Formats: sequence, C-alpha cells, structure tokens
Amino acid sequence: MFSRLLAPVLLFLSLGFGARADVLPPSAPVEERVRHLLAQMTVEEKVGQLVQYSSRDDMTGPAEQSSITPQLQSGGVGSMLNVVGAAETRRWQKIAVEGSRLRIPLLFAYDVIHGYRTIFPIPLASAASWDLARIEEAERIAAREAAAAGLHWTFAPMVDIARDPRWGRIAEGAGEDPFLGSAIARARVRGFQGDGSFADAERILACAKHFAAYGAAQAGRDYFTTDVTERVLRDVYLPPFQAAVDAGVATFMSGFNDIDGTPCSASPFLLDRVLRGEWGFKGFVVSDWASVGEMLLHGNIADLREGALKAFLAGLDMDMQSDAFGPHLAALVREGRIPESRLDAAAGAILTAKFRLGLFEDPHRYSDETREKTLLGHPDHLAAARDLARRSAVLLKNNGVLPLAGSGLKVALVGPLADAPLSQVGTWRARARKEDTVTVRAALRQLYGDGLRYAFGCDVRGDDTTGFAAAVETAQASDIVIAALGEDASQSGESTSRTSLDLSGPQLALLRALKTAGKPIVLLLMAGRPLMLEPVAPLADAILMGWHPGTMGGPALADVLTGAYNPSGRLPLSWPRSVGQIPYFHAHKNTGRPAPLREGDPYYSRYIDSPNTPQFPFGFGLSYTTFAYDQLRLSSPVLRDGGVLTITVRVANTGARTGEEVVQLYVRDRVGTLTRPVRELKGFRKIELAAGEAREVEFALGPADLAFWRGDMTFGAEPGDFDVFVGPDATAKLTASFRLE
Ligand code: NOJ
Repeated sequence: MFSRLLAPVLLFLSLGFGARADVLPPSAPVEERVRHLLAQMTVEEKVGQLVQYSSRDDMTGPAEQSSITPQLQSGGVGSMLNVVGAAETRRWQKIAVEGSRLRIPLLFAYDVIHGYRTIFPIPLASAASWDLARIEEAERIAAREAAAAGLHWTFAPMVDIARDPRWGRIAEGAGEDPFLGSAIARARVRGFQGDGSFADAERILACAKHFAAYGAAQAGRDYFTTDVTERVLRDVYLPPFQAAVDAGVATFMSGFNDIDGTPCSASPFLLDRVLRGEWGFKGFVVSDWASVGEMLLHGNIADLREGALKAFLAGLDMDMQSDAFGPHLAALVREGRIPESRLDAAAGAILTAKFRLGLFEDPHRYSDETREKTLLGHPDHLAAARDLARRSAVLLKNNGVLPLAGSGLKVALVGPLADAPLSQVGTWRARARKEDTVTVRAALRQLYGDGLRYAFGCDVRGDDTTGFAAAVETAQASDIVIAALGEDASQSGESTSRTSLDLSGPQLALLRALKTAGKPIVLLLMAGRPLMLEPVAPLADAILMGWHPGTMGGPALADVLTGAYNPSGRLPLSWPRSVGQIPYFHAHKNTGRPAPLREGDPYYSRYIDSPNTPQFPFGFGLSYTTFAYDQLRLSSPVLRDGGVLTITVRVANTGARTGEEVVQLYVRDRVGTLTRPVRELKGFRKIELAAGEAREVEFALGPADLAFWRGDMTFGAEPGDFDVFVGPDATAKLTASFRLE
C-alpha cells in the first residue's frame, strides 16, 4: 500500500512536471521498452492509454462531448478517432506530447473501410473479385493515403460473415462464406499492415471487427441480438477472425451485439478464452462506439463503473467513447478489484503498437503534408481503383446485348445512380471528394459523345414520376437503354437495415415505363447488397451488378459494359429470390426432407409459393466468353492422416475472347457424427484463359481442410466418404469422391 501511494509521488519528483518519459532506444526489444515505460507511469496514466475519444467531425454514433484538451494534457487519452489530415493530426499530437507529463503520443484511428481519398469498391464488391492480390493491393493503397494523412490505425477489415442482406452492413464484409471470408481477411490485413514492421510509415494498424457474429443480427436488424450456438459460432463466424490473427492483425474491435446474453464487449469467452487463450492474440481490443456504456441499455450492468469492471476483466483494452474506463478503472485497480497486472497488459499492448509505429522516435512521423499532397488520389491509386471495380462487377444475365456495340451506338442512360458521384462511393466515404469521382454518365459520355443521352428518371425514394416521360422519350430515341438503378449511399451500411429489398421508390415503375419504348434494356444495378429481382429480371435483357464501385466506378463499369474488360466477378453470397427466403446461404444443411419422397408429396422442406433455390447461386457470374470443365481426377481414392489429395480439373475457354474464370472447389462430408453442410467451399483459383485455351487447375486437400467442430467440441475431421465438386459456382456439377481414413 505504502509503495503504491508513494510511487507516483517519487516519480513526479524525479521526472518533474513536463518531463519527458525515459524511453529506451529503438535497439532495445519492444517488450523491454514497454516495461521500462510502464514502470514510470501512474495508474491514471496507464488508464489514460485505454481511453479513446472522437473529434467532433465524422461522429459515427450519438455523443455529447466537451473539450478534451485538459484530458489530453493530463495523459488521460491514449487514442483519438476521426481526427484526420496531416495538419490536424499534428495539431492534436502536439497537444498530447507537449502538454502531458510523459509525452506519450496518441494513436489516430479512422474508418478507412474501402479507401481514404481514392475510394475502392465497397468491401462486398471487392470480395466479388475473388482476387486476393488485388484486394491486398487496394488496402496497401488505402493505408498509404491514410498514413500520409497522419493516421495510424484503420477500423478495418470488417470480417463479419453475413447471410442476411436485410442487414445494411453486409456491404462492409466479404459475404457469406467462412473460407472465402478468411482468405480475404488475410489479404486485407496484409494490405494494411504489410509485413508488420511499419518501416516506411506507409502501412497502418488493422482492426478485425466486429468480434463476433455481429452479422448474425436477428431479423437482419442492425445492433440486434445474435443467437448462435457455439458450434455455429466456431464453424461459421469465427474463422475469418482467426485468419486475421494468423495474418498478424494488430487490433480487434468488439461487436455491439450480445450473444447468449452477454454483450461482446464484456465477453470473457470471446475476448479471453478464444481470442487470447486459443488463438494467442497479442494485440489489443477496442470497444465499438460507446459499446461499454450501451451495456446499460442491454441491461447487464447497473452503472458505468460496473460496465468498466466487466468489460475490462473480460479482456477489452480500449474504451471508445463510453467514458467508462477513464473515470472508473483507476479506482477499481486501487480497490484491488482489478489486478494491476491486467492494467499493465492492456496499457502495454497499446504502447507496443505505438512503439511498433515508431511514434516515440517521432510522434509526427505519419503527419506529412507534402506526402499527403502528392499521394492522395494519386493517378496510380485511381488506376488500381478502376481495375478492382471492373473486376468486382458481376454479370448476372446477358441475352446477348452486352458488350455494347461500337461507337456509333445511340445509348440512353437513365436512372438515379447514373450520375450520382457520392452515391457510387457507397457507405464509409472517408475523405472522398465529389469532384474526384467519375460517374457512369461521365465515362460513357467520353466514349459515345453525343450518342449518349441521359435522363434522370426518378429518385431512389419517394413517388415522384414526373421524370418518366423524358426518360421514355430518351429511350425511344436510342438503340439501347442502360438503367442505372439500385441504392444510394445512405441505403446501405451501418444502421440501414431494410425489410423490403425491392427496388425502392418508383424505380421498378420506371423500368416498366422504359420497357414500353421497346428497346433492349441493360439493368446496371448499383447497390450495397443484393436486391430482389424476381419482378425485375424479366424486364431486363442484361443485368450487371456494379455494387457501389467507388471513385472510378464510372470508367470501370463502362469498361465492362463495352467489353474493354471481360467481366470476371463472382457472387460472394447467394442472391435470394425474395426476402422470405432469408437467411439463404449455400452451405446449408440437407434436412431429413430435402426433396419429395414421391411425386406430388408436399411434406418436404420447401415453400408453397417459391422454389428453394436462390435467384443466383453463391459463386455465380457470367463472362463474355464461356468455360467448360472436364477431366476431374483425384490423385487417390483414399486420403490418409498426414496425406494430401490432389484434385485436378481441366478448364477450357470455349468462347471467342479471353476471359477469367473463378474455378471453385466444394466438398461434402457424406456422413458425419453430426449433420454436415450440403457443400462447403474449400478452394478457388482465378485464372485467365485465351479463347480456345485449356488448362489444368490443381487443388490440394489435406485432412485439416475437412475439419469441423465435432460433437464433443473438438476440432478435427472424421473418417468417411467425401464428395468433391468442381465448377463455376456452388451448383458445380462435376464430381468425384474419396475416403478419408
Ligand atoms: C461504429 C461502427 O460499428 C464501427 O464499425 C466503426 O468502426 C466505429 N463506429 C467507429 O467509427
């Protein structure tokens, strides 16, 4: 007790007010530097490291906030979010390092979700590229721009598996599948963090969020309860998070949701047992916005002090915007309710990040106005954004009208998304500027000149149809109609759940009106999620899902429409026919009644008003060429423990132009001690084939690839018979089987 009280006093005397901490040189191991620094810190200063506040710009949740300058000067803040720009970050950093006793630099965090100034397609869209190298490259560029603007840390990637498109945040993830989601999680972490050395101040800390199962919100309603069994949690929702840990992700964010009665921000099971215990995560966990305080409303705490105690003991390290840790943790430590070792572990993990970033050598290392000027929106970045956007577009239907014919064509471009620069950027626009964004209208104007006619048609909301007449007239005067319909940026993303996924406002009516012009119609969908197309699809001769494609969306989609780029995007989720089928996902169980026992038998798992099948299956997407699969071979009919099975298939481009195919491998575990999914994705390769070219594609499968959480909650494969399926989507027909012994 004596030493606990005396230590801060002695330290104060020895360092003196305004004195800088004694920091070991960079040649010392980071752990030692952290230990040495912690030894100089008071309990309050350690707690200060665990506190994160937002600037007043870009608030992403409800908050009341007065000036935080006094807290910065007392070492009471470890990190800020929503402070952006080299000059702004420098200004705040100065207050923190020049005003506080130990001069510990702040960490600046921001939602760099799909780019900073140069905006790439929304994450769900880039997942549709199935192109891991280019996804990684996009995040490298996002990090490069953000770093130049003084940022150290992005709240990305969001790796939540989502199987419910009513949930607006489906736009921010990589879709429904744990295997694809894990591969993309690794790529994004590598892109943001590089090799993790942060040697060149061009990479930033990544954050795997929202831990966990936030995407399983009941009824697709954002922030709502999730109710998943531990097995489903581990088989489906956790793998991308574990993949992020394996890739070295520096931080995690806890979800807003509660699972099995415990809000994620105070879940010892998630934060302590799984994340740290089982996965060996060494970084730190930040809460989501005010999620510690929101436990008052969840109803599992009576006051903020209890919230701080529960969350901190569970393993949460940083409190974003709740004002729970700052006012309460120090007293809880002093009362002995929290061991100081826990405080040292949390503060130490945050200081480790600051050391790794080189901020003790130069707190302004990332705030570089010159680099900011030259790097933001750099032409190379724009080129990469255009390339990824065209690779993300998914051709869903084509009766031959695409690609568009040559330059003499008269094109009617209609619809609310055709010339909507900020809407095409989608959710989380970071520092996107309207004037940098190239719309479909601008891009097609370049190509068709006066041959392009444009009409707005209608908005995505309301019921104003006064623009219909001009739109139909424009269609009549043209050879072909491109209808750019879908969602504007405010219709998907956080807190944008929808109960209807029909084209909103008068958009379907506009399409019907356009149909009366008798011209071929290309539906260019631009949205953050699948929209229900049952009444829509028959009206269109071609459907291209362009998503929210980002800054260079216009030229990218023009490339695809004209055939300058042959579409290669494939759906990272099953596209339901109707909201009534949701949740729909390809790796579902077979049930005991998958099909009628005999003709006419109604007692099987079905709807009386809809087929069970989706509108488009997982993995689906068309090309302007065609591909054929044959010669599926397995290296052996038996796979033994420690062995590897090689699966080979021949894929041929049977059409007339070069194209890319995403060759997909699915496996079915025929009989398990538990019921197993009808198919699971176990591999994919994106390959390019010239017209007429054929190539062998190889996959390797080992017993570990067949593992799942078994009845006794151990993880492993079970011996028995397995089917493999190889093809262009989750309905792949080519099949073979093997036995695991
Ligand atoms: C709330 C969101 O859920 C989260 O994804 C985001 O990173 C934070 N706000 C910070 O803006």
